[in-house]
Amino acid sequence: MTSQHEPAAPALAVDVLSIFPEYFTGPLDASLLGKARERGHLRVDVHDLRDWSVDRHRTVDAEPYGGGAGMVMRPEPFVHAVEDLYGGLAHRPRTVLLSPRGRRLDQPLVAELAREPALLLLCGRYEGIDERVHRLLAHDEVSLGDYVLAGGEAAACVLIEAVSRLVPGVVGNTASVAEESFAGGLLEHPQYTRPARFRGLEVPAVLRSGDHGAVARWRRAQSRARTRAVRPDLLEDDAPPGGGGSSASGPGASGRGPDPSG
Ligand SMILES: C[S@@+](CC[C@H](N)C(=O)[O-])C[C@H]1O[C@@H](n2cnc3c(N)ncnc32)[C@H](O)[C@@H]1O
Repeated sequence: MTSQHEPAAPALAVDVLSIFPEYFTGPLDASLLGKARERGHLRVDVHDLRDWSVDRHRTVDAEPYGGGAGMVMRPEPFVHAVEDLYGGLAHRPRTVLLSPRGRRLDQPLVAELAREPALLLLCGRYEGIDERVHRLLAHDEVSLGDYVLAGGEAAACVLIEAVSRLVPGVVGNTASVAEESFAGGLLEHPQYTRPARFRGLEVPAVLRSGDHGAVARWRRAQSRARTRAVRPDLLEDDAPPGGGGSSASGPGASGRGPDPSG
């Protein structure tokens, strides 16, 4: 599948190699990514790896040397695809192989990848990809988490969406990405909208007070409390001098998240 809206100079150009290019149709066309591609901020081309298969049966896999369950993806289709697409391995953009053994995808890595002008994503299937592809092509191996997916396509979609949100122009309101979870090392504070009271639950009075300083302090405290409750690992580098952050008796100390009562 190729982008129908070929931008002249997108801020981020992504090539994907997959044996299931149709997998990407919905995620790449809908909502934010669809609009970003239409407006030319983002180019994503998904290439069918079978176009570089080793025979007329469009084979891309073979039995593993040494025996064992399942099939392994052969190296030639990946390497030949990269040579054709970029005119040689040395000209390939930053290349990410999606793999459960890779570095866990997190916001710092997302931000790092968003600074690249172009990315190439390699999606495995079956029992995985021949080790020589890891050695010859992958600048990074990236995992979504400690579980095994059927293929790299879902992981590639997640990576593209997360990275694209940081590409200038993709998210209209830049404050959204500057203030959300992980951007400052913390989870986001609770958000409320209308109505002010719903099913017996009130929007905290401070949010309706019009006191912007008080709102900012409340949100910061709630962020820290929520983070301490559910992701204390994120707070390790966030402790203010003198240990003045949220305390064990502060909001959210119950382990059920911050106290929204304000
Ligand atoms: C069924 S998995 C292969 C798992 C492999 N045999 C193993 O034990 O690590 C097939 C492909 O799915 C993708 N994949 C599976 N889990 C993933 C994860 N947690 N993060 C990123 N990609 C993953 C990789 O591209 C992998 O090559």
